Amino acid sequence: MKILVTGGAGFIGSNFIHYWLEKHPDDEIINFDLLTYAGHLESLESIKDNPHYSFIKGDITDAKAVDEVVSKVDAIIHFAAESHVDRSILDPLIFTKTNIIGTQILLEAAKKFGIKKFHHVSTDEVFGALPLDSDTKFNEETSYNPHSPYAASKASSDHLVRAYHDTFGISVTITNCSNNFGPYQDPEKFMPRMITNLLSGQKVKVYGDGKYVRDWLHVLDHARAIEMVFLNAAQGSTYCVGGMTKDVNNLEVAQKVIKLLGKSESESIEFVTDRPGHDRRYAVDWTKINKDLGWEPQYDFDSWLEKTVKWYQENESWWKPLKEKSESIYKK
Ligand code: NAD
Ligand code: DAU
Repeated sequence: MKILVTGGAGFIGSNFIHYWLEKHPDDEIINFDLLTYAGHLESLESIKDNPHYSFIKGDITDAKAVDEVVSKVDAIIHFAAESHVDRSILDPLIFTKTNIIGTQILLEAAKKFGIKKFHHVSTDEVFGALPLDSDTKFNEETSYNPHSPYAASKASSDHLVRAYHDTFGISVTITNCSNNFGPYQDPEKFMPRMITNLLSGQKVKVYGDGKYVRDWLHVLDHARAIEMVFLNAAQGSTYCVGGMTKDVNNLEVAQKVIKLLGKSESESIEFVTDRPGHDRRYAVDWTKINKDLGWEPQYDFDSWLEKTVKWYQENESWWKPLKEKSESIYKK
């Protein structure tokens, strides 16, 4: 099968390409990525000469370039997006352009060239926020209630994907996944920002009171969920994907990382101004994907957090050149 992966130079896309080529060595992957600030070809260095992999620099909002590449493939797995909530507060319009218009341009091309499968990689943030100290979780029936411009743009893209299925009969699937962590994540995001701050002798910046909860999932568990849905799910279906079995708030995650790096807690945490419209708690009920497709997380949080910390310790050459740029947005 010849698969177009959009956004394959980003965090999840690059991990997914490594995963896929290892599991499906006879398939061919074309990585179509604009290489924005978030795209790093260094993450794909080890496979750049693999004859089953190729890279095209291109923009999903450029219909001509999209048509050209989509005409060559059987299926699309769509990761490309503006993905950082804080950036969507500073500069929301690019989120509308990339995440909504870009997705629609891909869907138009999928319609035009009779693409067999279109998998859309989405987020649990489309559902909004849950209260603290509750057992409630998002599931496939939860109403959409996005709060940030990022979440609203992803919600719109989900609606477009479903509309193209219902109206034009495009074969689509969607996954709404929780917060990923693992190697090759840009140091702008909480987990790598915290680790690389500590490795650079700086403090962890904790927003507000730190009692915000995210449902952490290792990126390879997400890759496997996408694989299962893409290969085996019914067309038109949606699956929620998440990992944690109990709530761990941001402050507790920070305390775990500080301990792993042997630092002193009192000297390593700085509470900073909160994010506007900050969602309190995310938690995902992944019963449906478990029952229908047999997926469950394989990587437990504490051991894979430790491996992730170790990866950043050992791969300074990957994150160091990105650090100054990623910190510059926080100065705004
Ligand atoms: P990322 O920001 O690390 O990577 C995004 C990639 O898209 C980059 O390589 C960038 O160059 C590329 N890109 C951006 N605009 C483009 C354009 N116009 N044309 C072509 N390429 C473009 O993002 P990520 O964290 O890897 O997230 C990937 C996808 O997964 C996104 O759709 C995101 O909404 C979704 N998601 C992310 C998480 C998470 O925890 N990171 C969780 C659930 C869902
Ligand atoms: O839930 C899935 C989503 O997870 C994805 O759709 C997004 O693409 C991804 O960026 C992520 O969104 P979050 O806003 O949850 O992730 P972020 O890493 O930015 O922040 C995680 C939590 O940590 C959040 O409560 C804000 C907080 N935070 C973040 C940063 C960068 C801090 O306390 N300090 C920080 O320095």
